[in-house]
Amino acid sequence: MKVTVLHGSPRKEKSNTSILLKPFVDGMKSAGAEVHVFYLKKLEINPCRGCFYCWLKHPGECYHRDDVREIISSLKESEIWVLATPVYVDGMTGIMKNLLDRLIPMVEPFFEMRENHFRHIVREDVRGGKVVLLSNCGFYELDNFDPLVEHVKAFCKNINREFTASLLRPHGEALKPLMSFYPDLVNGVLDSLREAGKLLIETGNIPKELVEEISKPLMPPDVYFETANRMFKEGIEYWKTKLTSKDE
Ligand SMILES: Cc1cc2nc3c(=O)[nH]c(=O)nc-3n(C[C@H](O)[C@H](O)[C@H](O)COP(=O)(O)O)c2cc1C
Repeated sequence: MKVTVLHGSPRKEKSNTSILLKPFVDGMKSAGAEVHVFYLKKLEINPCRGCFYCWLKHPGECYHRDDVREIISSLKESEIWVLATPVYVDGMTGIMKNLLDRLIPMVEPFFEMRENHFRHIVREDVRGGKVVLLSNCGFYELDNFDPLVEHVKAFCKNINREFTASLLRPHGEALKPLMSFYPDLVNGVLDSLREAGKLLIETGNIPKELVEEISKPLMPPDVYFETANRMFKEGIEYWKTKLTSKDE
């Protein structure tokens, strides 16, 4: 089974997204999946021009000749798409949205009615399949993912794919410090992600208990609040001592 992962953190391999994605991908591979990860930040992905070249002049082909061609051919061959993006301004990152805009050649301009709703017809060579959202955010509460989850669900309806699960890690900025000082706390989350990846390939689904385990609070809110504020303060102080007037 083929899987395409779209990695939407500008921090690439050093991201919290990567910490969470690795065990998930390992789990999928252990169950026999062929997984292709695209780091969107490393690729040439021009913004959509809104010119409808892909609908009218050359149906199914974008005006831009850039890396999106390879991404689209991978997506077309994949049963599972994983959108891996941190929350930026209550949604996906700009590079992820930029890529999703460029997927418009995968649908036709023509409308059809699906479940009593206007949708574009998905092109014949774009097979159906599943979408999994993997995200982390800086704030503490799980509801910070609500707008992103709704957006990805709407995207799935329009591209006619099943929204299978959202794997959400709030207070994601706690991952790296906790891995240094309290690795057991994070290991539970990483093990659950590995199991989720394996089960997704083996059964087509991710059990609710694993989804909940991945999102569970890693520390009480007041501890995160105080620790984060202290670290930001120390960061500002550190840079004050490092920066010369030339740097500024
Ligand atoms: C431009 C920007 C906007 C952000 N907006 C939000 C936000 O709306 N809500 C939130 O909880 N975290 C927000 N964050 C925090 C990130 O989600 C958080 O730092 C996350 O751990 C980054 O993940 P990454 O390392 O995978 O890139 C934002 C970060 C940046 C840089």
